[in-house]
Amino acid sequence: MTITARTRVAIVGAGPAGLLLSHLLAQSGIESIIVDQRSRDEIESTIRAGILEQGTVELLDTIGPASRARTVGHRHDGIELRFEGEGHRVDFADTVGRAVWLYPQHEVLKDLISARLAAGQDLRFGVTAEAVEDADSARPRVIARDADGERFVIEADFVVGSDGSRSIARAAVTGSMTGGYFREYPFAWFGILCEAPPSSDELIYSNSPDGFALVSQRSDTVQRMYFQCDPDTDTAAYSEAQLWDELQKRVPGTTLKEGPIFQRDVLRFRSFVAHELRRGRVALVGDAAHTVPPTGAKGMNLAIADVRLLAEALRTLLLEGDERLLDAYPETASRRIWKAQHFSWWMTSMLHVAPDATDFDRRRQLGELRTVVESAHGRALLAEAYCGWPLDA
Ligand code: PHB
Repeated sequence: MTITARTRVAIVGAGPAGLLLSHLLAQSGIESIIVDQRSRDEIESTIRAGILEQGTVELLDTIGPASRARTVGHRHDGIELRFEGEGHRVDFADTVGRAVWLYPQHEVLKDLISARLAAGQDLRFGVTAEAVEDADSARPRVIARDADGERFVIEADFVVGSDGSRSIARAAVTGSMTGGYFREYPFAWFGILCEAPPSSDELIYSNSPDGFALVSQRSDTVQRMYFQCDPDTDTAAYSEAQLWDELQKRVPGTTLKEGPIFQRDVLRFRSFVAHELRRGRVALVGDAAHTVPPTGAKGMNLAIADVRLLAEALRTLLLEGDERLLDAYPETASRRIWKAQHFSWWMTSMLHVAPDATDFDRRRQLGELRTVVESAHGRALLAEAYCGWPLDA
């Protein structure tokens, strides 16, 4: 038997984008159903990146005290770019009068899930969306299967694919699972979580002859760090002592505070933008629409920016019958998406050492880093992108 549910907006994927969208829609009195194939525990415990733009934090403020970004997270007023053994601070307050917050994505997810459930959101975990159909009709549908294998259909006025980089909703929009602009990189990040005090108050993005490293933090007792590695690296290939050696040699001039490493992962780098972001009554947001390498910390922030645009477009469509904002969504969202693509690619290429880099490339890269850090305009350009362009622009 097929069970059919009806709602105004069916949201595939309970990541930051899908959850925030349901909140913004609910603020306009628009009901939605969210499905996600993962369990709540899986969603809340997957380790992802940790930097929130100021605009992201301000949008999260609208869920009320459930957002702990300002209380548990930490405001950062700058980052350090390190090369040739010297640190150069990019001061956000000085350059753009804005800030970012270090607050891990899985904590954002805990906040959003608890706020949405408290508000009575229909949020279904363990439900796998198999297909999105009838995008071109006024009644698009999500075909799904629950944890017991029971098939069910959600009929909606609109379907949103916020189901991540392996999106199934994408096929309904672009006609294929993969269709898009795409770039791969010849390196990845080896990430660790360790029990140690912070090695630095602010993030250090370090370029060294041995490759890139990022010194990030999680709390007074847990730190997050990454170093550039081959994409095929096996996480078990290094002893703890070797991991500290690899990290340490990539941040010359700073002595890292070491401690037990309790988590390791390899993050592959891709840049991707789907050829289409909307077809009829289906639209894509977040990683379903685009992926960026992690160097500029733009992934979740970009997803949140998409959602802000789409929530307004759906409000005018569903409450006022006005399709203009929805028609404009792909073009409007693309402007920010491609700025973020550029920024993520730029930070990546400026800071990493490509396996085939020549001496010329190395020296040119140091020239590029000096151009940025030795110029108030250069620092401001970086800070503006890092803290996030205005959401209303
Ligand atoms: C992190 O803390 O996980 C992090 C911070 C900044 C980045 C990427 C990841 O650019």
